[in-house]
Amino acid sequence: MNKKAIITSALPYSNGEIHLGHVASTYLPADVTTRFLKQNGVEAYYICASDDFGTPILIQSEKEGKTPEEYVAHWNKRDLEDFTAFDIAFDFFYKTSSEENIEFVQDVFKKLQDNDHIYENEIIQFFCENDKKFLPDRFVKGICPYCKAEDQYSDLCEKCGRVPEEIENPHCSICGQTPVKKSTNHYFFKLKNFSEPLLDYLNNAPYLQKDVKKYVENWIKEGLVDWDITRDISWGVPIPIEGLDNKVFYGWFDNHLAYISSSIKFLNDKGIDGKSFWNDADIYHFIGKDIVYHHYLFLPAMRLGINKEFKLPDYIPTRGHLTLESKKISKSRNWYIGLKEFLEIFPADYLRFYLISINPYSQDDLNFDWDQFATKINSELIGNLGNLVNRALGFTNKAFDGILPVPEDFDEKDSESEKRITSFADDISKLMIDNQLDRALKQIMEFSAHFNQYFQHKEPWKKGPGTSSCIYLSVNAVRSLAIAIHSFLPKASQQIWEQIGMNGDVSETNWNEMSEISLKPNHKIGKVEPLFAKIESSVIDEQKAKLGD
Ligand code: 2FM
Ligand code: ZN
Repeated sequence: MNKKAIITSALPYSNGEIHLGHVASTYLPADVTTRFLKQNGVEAYYICASDDFGTPILIQSEKEGKTPEEYVAHWNKRDLEDFTAFDIAFDFFYKTSSEENIEFVQDVFKKLQDNDHIYENEIIQFFCENDKKFLPDRFVKGICPYCKAEDQYSDLCEKCGRVPEEIENPHCSICGQTPVKKSTNHYFFKLKNFSEPLLDYLNNAPYLQKDVKKYVENWIKEGLVDWDITRDISWGVPIPIEGLDNKVFYGWFDNHLAYISSSIKFLNDKGIDGKSFWNDADIYHFIGKDIVYHHYLFLPAMRLGINKEFKLPDYIPTRGHLTLESKKISKSRNWYIGLKEFLEIFPADYLRFYLISINPYSQDDLNFDWDQFATKINSELIGNLGNLVNRALGFTNKAFDGILPVPEDFDEKDSESEKRITSFADDISKLMIDNQLDRALKQIMEFSAHFNQYFQHKEPWKKGPGTSSCIYLSVNAVRSLAIAIHSFLPKASQQIWEQIGMNGDVSETNWNEMSEISLKPNHKIGKVEPLFAKIESSVIDEQKAKLGD
């Protein structure tokens, strides 16, 4: 395992609150992975930032009568609060509009220019004579030329999912007037230059998902098109060329560069040479499948274009979209659950447990289902894990005054259980390394189920022979579980740690220690309390009733 790692997840737009769809595909898997790497002694840093630029943000800030700076500052702060409530533990959360990022983006552009990857070209674009503005992307609405849906943005039809070549019946989304066409000069990145080096990169990146690589390779083979990287608006990274007023870089030119600029700032501030660290580390970019094009093509091509001054990603874990009760999430149709609101009703660990358990390492979509959520929490998290912790520790308190007894000679069942503990770390490490987080969590639950059965089989409440061994091994298994679940359920893990009478922070215990039987006879456990509360069906009914119009 590389002893250094930088982990990022897709940067959230500073344009509205974080909802369950965001956390399921990117932030949660990245957080679990970072915590796991740290438990393994890797110097791992989880870096994120708000994505502050772009037309939709400018439009919304204008609508709310705020400056774009005020508007994005609000969402940057709020997003971080919501992530923190969900125990997403960024080492650093910064912003694409930082001084450091602006300077870095301009520097990258100049290097790309020097390397002959940039050219200027005249294009025709809608212009509103009333607002005196060019109207890129979301500034124009009209009828989709393909499916004839009305009131669609010029850069994407939300009905049919296509990008209109030219929207019909165009009108300005600010004042509603019909725009005229006007020519303007834009800068283009020669993406076409990179077909070969990109294929090369994909072929030599063993940790990228095979199925994603396959279709990205097909895109390349079908032929790449050069990329318009400028916009005629006022909100973005200024283009470092004299006399270009009211022209900025397109948001997708600058945003992913904040992965690097934010990491460098964070590391340099810590007294670490950021650039060397980046180039020595394993680089992970966690994303959802909607931004594969940007992360497998634009982002690597730009790093190639500056002669790999910053290394390309080793891992781009890509996951599918979350649907809600089998329907597409939509804020306007109120088919949607905000993260903040969810966490006002249920503990973060419940959502973390549920979302990981339904989220495979693939691009398949996953579905949030209220009934399934309640069942998984009540019967798996509480019925299995919570039950084991409570009965093993509760019984130790009741029958042994909270003191771990001296075990007797092990019988076959004891030895089998002992072996489960000693092989536990190895049993799940490979899955964790391979990002199969759902399968790793499943194995952990199987471990817990095994010890429930063992306890049941041994019937320690009868106080017969073998009781001491059963308690000794079961409490040690609970300790192993506390270490194993830390990355998934950080709060429950720490609570268990304290209930078994351990000091300090469980996150500081090395991953492999879950396979040691280190609680010895005479160890005194702590105060035992139920970890979780059952979800009542009436609460689920209330949540369901909130969805829809
Ligand atoms: O699609 C999005 O939500 C973008 N804000 C993601 C940006 S990730 C980037 F910075 F690479
Ligand atoms: Zn207008």
